[in-house]
Amino acid sequence: MFDLKDLYQEVIVDHNRSPRNFGKLAGADRMLEGFNPLCGDRLTLYLKLADGRIADISFDGTGCAISIASASLMTDAMKGKTTAEAETIFNQFHELVTATRADPDLEKFGKLAALAGVREYPTRVKCATLCWHTLHTALTSDQTTVTTE
Ligand code: FES
Repeated sequence: MFDLKDLYQEVIVDHNRSPRNFGKLAGADRMLEGFNPLCGDRLTLYLKLADGRIADISFDGTGCAISIASASLMTDAMKGKTTAEAETIFNQFHELVTATRADPDLEKFGKLAALAGVREYPTRVKCATLCWHTLHTALTSDQTTVTTE
């Protein structure tokens, strides 16, 4: 029988083992480091912006399976989006993983829904949102580092 939890687990394992958009981005306009002081993990996000869109995006660094899978899924989801669309997706994803919406419509999140399970584990929420806060900050400020604390 089809089990959604197994499918989501597979997505996370796949994106951790073979992260998409991993590595430095040549010609990036913005580079921002995300740091989780609780564990010491650091991810760096690279962005190329053109005509109000995320023309290209990548990341590198070290992190747990959830943080790497989340960065991989996020960069896939954000490529080509306008900065306004990216902010909307950021807010929706944040609601999804912090359980501020009781009954989320998982279908609209596509593969990002694989990370919805972290809402049960507050420390894992920081892992899943590390790259997302880094992107949000990169798009809205001139900071060069963002931390989860
Ligand atoms: Fe460090 Fe997950 S344990 S980001």
